[in-house]
Amino acid sequence: MASISEVPDEPGQPPALSALSLAQTSQDSKAKEQIITPFDVSGGVDEHGKAVAIDYDKLIDRFGSQRIDKAILERFEKLTGKPPHRLLRRGMVFSHRDLNLILDKYEKGVPFFLYTGRGPSSDSMHVGHTIPFEFTKYLQDAFDVPLVIMLTDDEKFLHSPKLSLKECRRFALENALDIIAIGFDPKKTFIFADTEFIYSDDGAAFGFNILEMSKKTTNNQIKGTFGFNDTNNIGEFAFPATQSATSFASSFPFIFGHNLKAVNKIPCLIPCAIDQDPYFRQCRDNAPRLGLMKPALIHTVFLPSLRGSESKMSASDTDSSIFLSDTDNQIKKKVGKAFSGGQDTREEHERLGGRTAVDVPFQYLTFFLEDDEQLEHIRQQYESGKMQSGEMKATATKELQAYVWAFRERRKAVTPEIREEFMRPRQLIFKSMPSEKEQRAALEEERRVLQKRLVLVEGSLQRLQATGQAS
Ligand code: TRP
Repeated sequence: MASISEVPDEPGQPPALSALSLAQTSQDSKAKEQIITPFDVSGGVDEHGKAVAIDYDKLIDRFGSQRIDKAILERFEKLTGKPPHRLLRRGMVFSHRDLNLILDKYEKGVPFFLYTGRGPSSDSMHVGHTIPFEFTKYLQDAFDVPLVIMLTDDEKFLHSPKLSLKECRRFALENALDIIAIGFDPKKTFIFADTEFIYSDDGAAFGFNILEMSKKTTNNQIKGTFGFNDTNNIGEFAFPATQSATSFASSFPFIFGHNLKAVNKIPCLIPCAIDQDPYFRQCRDNAPRLGLMKPALIHTVFLPSLRGSESKMSASDTDSSIFLSDTDNQIKKKVGKAFSGGQDTREEHERLGGRTAVDVPFQYLTFFLEDDEQLEHIRQQYESGKMQSGEMKATATKELQAYVWAFRERRKAVTPEIREEFMRPRQLIFKSMPSEKEQRAALEEERRVLQKRLVLVEGSLQRLQATGQAS
């Protein structure tokens, strides 16, 4: 009899990606399924060969996650005493796994921790990258919980034919500065780059969890979940265990303490863009087999590309994205050329009205404009043809300029010293952190180890001096 733990419990596991693409090519029609994986995001193509927007409802069905509904929004409001974030109110945070369990526990006084991350594939981040981070900051502030941010420089190195390890490590450090500028609380946030943390003394517990997870992960699982084949390198096959291991509080004893019985009860909530879901489906399948809790997830949509909502902003396609380093003038030029849902002529626009559903500048307003009433007013004006696309573009330009300007101001204040503090393994400050006694014991132990090491280093130095004198 198969034990319960061996049965994948995630309903609606998508078919293996390789099978999916075979099915596509066997059809005569021009239609193509949308592809959403951690490595590739593109909307589908209809039977006439026309690109269509990403269908998030379909994704929920295919991935087998849950929809964020009104009841959840009300729970957020009740638990935090604050109105839900605009991304929640407007459906850009649209899907979840086990969020209710996290909120149940939180309600009973059991705290959780947040985990999110970024793959540092270049040194320039765009405004689409900040969306899950903005939402994570709201969660950190609203629930007052610790947060770990993982920079997967190893992942980007393994997956990119071009990037060197050195480049990926540099991007991780560069990106950390941008991420800090989102406004995370230094007392509650630990940021780490894989290639630095995994191989350090403080990363040992994390390394052990990676090993445990690797042992439970088969090549078959990875092929099914990610569509890899035998031409993928073995590092790519192994990496998902690393992204998974961050979901467990026991990977961070300097934050959560050393009492494993207590630590293993701290649940994890992962805010991420929906393309990361395959990693965590995989993790959730295997976690119970290690006696560990499955992480809960909360998914955001992608910020549409300037070219249209069939694709997301992409750092490698500079005409698709507004970068955090863009000047006011660059933003104005780019939004001016963005895909518009306006009609071809002024008269037609007045007669038929603009199409907000496909209008990229309007989409950006839904992400960045805080005021619900103002947004609704703009929608009505545009759809009724009273507002022309030029005015829509000017409004979106202003809002994006203000967002990027505020980011730039905060970014100026982030020094390498501040980054060092965020990236130092250390005790974070939160409601149910380990007791002072436990912290003291751990620090005393660390001091003992360091002292012993110092004695050994000094011994080596003396020997070196002695041989130096002898020769
Ligand atoms: N794989 C992600 C990327 O390429 C980075 C990442 C690691 C991440 N852990 C995460 C993203 C958790 C969101 C949540 O961008």
